[in-house]
Amino acid sequence: MPAIVIVGAQWGDEGKGKATDLLGGSADYVVRFQGGNNAGHTVVIGDATFALHLLPSGILSPTCTPVIGNGVVVDLEVLFREMDGLIERGVDPSRLVVSANAHIITPYNVTLDKVTERFLGKAKIGTTGRGIGPTYGDKMARVGIRVQDLMDPSILARKVEGALVNKNQALVKVFNRRAVDVEGVVDHLLSFADRLGPHVADTALLLNRALDRGDMVVLEGGQGTLLDVDHGTYPYVTSSNPTSGGASTGSGIGPTRIDRVLGILKAYTTRVGEGPFPTELVDDDGERLRTIGGEVGVTTGRDRRCGWFDAPIARYATRVNGMTDYFLTKLDVLSTFETIPVCMAYEVDGQRVEEVPMTQTDFHHAKPVYEELPGWGEDISGIRDFDDLPGNCKAYVRFLEEQAGARISAIGVGPDRDATLVLHDLLP
Ligand code: IMP
Repeated sequence: MPAIVIVGAQWGDEGKGKATDLLGGSADYVVRFQGGNNAGHTVVIGDATFALHLLPSGILSPTCTPVIGNGVVVDLEVLFREMDGLIERGVDPSRLVVSANAHIITPYNVTLDKVTERFLGKAKIGTTGRGIGPTYGDKMARVGIRVQDLMDPSILARKVEGALVNKNQALVKVFNRRAVDVEGVVDHLLSFADRLGPHVADTALLLNRALDRGDMVVLEGGQGTLLDVDHGTYPYVTSSNPTSGGASTGSGIGPTRIDRVLGILKAYTTRVGEGPFPTELVDDDGERLRTIGGEVGVTTGRDRRCGWFDAPIARYATRVNGMTDYFLTKLDVLSTFETIPVCMAYEVDGQRVEEVPMTQTDFHHAKPVYEELPGWGEDISGIRDFDDLPGNCKAYVRFLEEQAGARISAIGVGPDRDATLVLHDLLP
């Protein structure tokens, strides 16, 4: 059985939770491999809506083992709050496994995320304020605190002390804040140790053994391709690798063991936070997309910026992720539009550019070049077979497929679990 990676193809919020949930029914393991509680997955099952920020969506499937991989950053308070919330609703999260190598989001990193953003003023990134960037910063600077450090209190105290030497200088002298007390942080982190202990494992070993046995592993990305710290619209990105390569480093499963890369692609585009967005609509159409699509952030409650489908971005996502399949989501949101523009290329300083520009400056100057496609003017949310879709709707899907350069294997036509059309089996 295979390992399948699920990644967002745009700026996040493409509806990955639904795809993961769809595959999660067959999966033995669902693994998060990057990000933290900056993600927001909404899964609708019957009348119940579950909003998950940190836990893998596989937690909702009773036959699946949810895994937080080494590439994730974990806020322990949020982790247990989310687990308690599920217990209250009758979902048992006890099968959760957490990598000993995952990094912990410490309270001082949440503080630093917020004060840094405030300090940047107009140049701010628009982060979720959850401490994600500073925690990955510590990881790379080799002053991070890992899950395994909770098992050795004296090491933990030494590491927190080491990390705070520079940070306290910055907090006091640059940001005009009070210094953070080492003991307070250590006590806070250790207060989670007993409850966390039974969940901690060598998850890379666990997952590779699972693949050896023939189990199915789904690797669930947070955010999206254009928020990738290497391949996204840097610096307006998150601090991890949500692209498919990150699935290997963030889980310990080698690239040769990954069979399929499923990109989640919204039928239009949205973005939260700052940064370039060539097809953004600041008019009535943008407002219509936001209202019909319910485009409000699951994590931050911020309105999402909305715009038309951007083909160069889809092609880019296909390329950098090695996409084998796409799940096209929220197609029903476009049903009331008379015509639907699709961005085919950009105009940059008077030149037509077919692909995502190489430099940040050019991308900031990129203006969309649109082709108008006819709308279909009827509700498609009850349709379950691709052949039953209106002709113009099928043509829109085929057009996007051709532009993106990978086959569309599933289509979402509504928020419910079953509001999905499957064109090709998602399991290899
Ligand atoms: P951070 O991940 O909190 O550091 O935020 C960095 C950027 O990524 C900001 O523009 C956020 O709005 C964006 N971002 C982070 N997580 C998500 C997500 O799950 N969906 C959409 N945007 C996100």
